[in-house]
Amino acid sequence: MNPELTEFMRACQARVEAALEARLPPATRVPERLHQAMRYSVLGGGKRLRPLLTYAAGSALQLPPESLDGPACAVEFIHVYSLIHDDLPAMDDDDLRRGKPTCHKAFDEATAILAGDALQALAFQVLVQDPGLRIPAERRLAMVETLAVASGSQGMVGGQAIDLAAVGKSLDLPSLEHMHIRKTGALIRASVKLAALAAPDVPDRALEQLDHYAKCIGLAFQIKDDILDEVSDTETLGKTQGKDRHHNKPNYPALLGLSGAQEKARELHDAALASLSDFGAEADLLRGLSRFIIERAR
Ligand code: IPE
Ligand code: IPE
Ligand code: MG
Ligand code: MG
Ligand code: MG
Repeated sequence: MNPELTEFMRACQARVEAALEARLPPATRVPERLHQAMRYSVLGGGKRLRPLLTYAAGSALQLPPESLDGPACAVEFIHVYSLIHDDLPAMDDDDLRRGKPTCHKAFDEATAILAGDALQALAFQVLVQDPGLRIPAERRLAMVETLAVASGSQGMVGGQAIDLAAVGKSLDLPSLEHMHIRKTGALIRASVKLAALAAPDVPDRALEQLDHYAKCIGLAFQIKDDILDEVSDTETLGKTQGKDRHHNKPNYPALLGLSGAQEKARELHDAALASLSDFGAEADLLRGLSRFIIERAR
């Protein structure tokens, strides 16, 4: 990986860790167990890819990182809530997440459900209240709308519903794509769009290009997740390897084979880069993150 991207990722991961910490209720506040569970799942783990995308898109639009901390945290809170619920026994029934016991294993199922619920609400609270965001109220409203649509039944939650309904069935390629674009792609797309909404004025064409980039990498991201589920190992992933096959989940390697899935991810990376062709070096971090998505080991 190029050294500039490595340094950007390291610095942003540290930045977002502090920003998340500052926005979470303290573990000593009542109800303590709920707040402990929220902090347990949010802090100290994960690649923070969605916040990285928000900061990288902000950098392509010459925005200072202070104006992106709120949106970056909001999207990560939604993501962590989705992981907590995804791991529940009624969903994927996983014991390991980010290299440690899943929230319902470390606490209990009811606490895990509530921690997810509270993180979802906190995401919107942060978008509405965040003092670093110096934008008119209509822009904040547009951010709330963007994140709500990406998270709800037309976005992540809808994709999760399709995923669960598809267990044991074989989906054709368009249906698989439809599912992936929602369950994972929607939030990744929102991560980039929130940065554009934090900017004073972005031309429509640049907005469309950034959105197309995000759509491509969002799908590539879940394809790579499916590949890693098949070929990696539990220790590297920090979550149990081989779960998709075990649960009979339709995914890209099952449908296209491993090399077909890898090839599809590579095509999407190329399409993502093509969407950025009007941008100069200011979009290099976005280009690098697209490559990272298809080449990562976890
Ligand atoms: C895992 O997401 C769940 C999917 C949407 C595929 P990540 O791979 O981004 O998980 P963390 O945040 O790094 O743990
Ligand atoms: C999860 O997809 C997508 C979410 C909305 C959390 P997966 O079920 O494949 O994610 P992992 O593999 O458990 O992280
Ligand atoms: Mg799942
Ligand atoms: Mg899962
Ligand atoms: Mg997976």
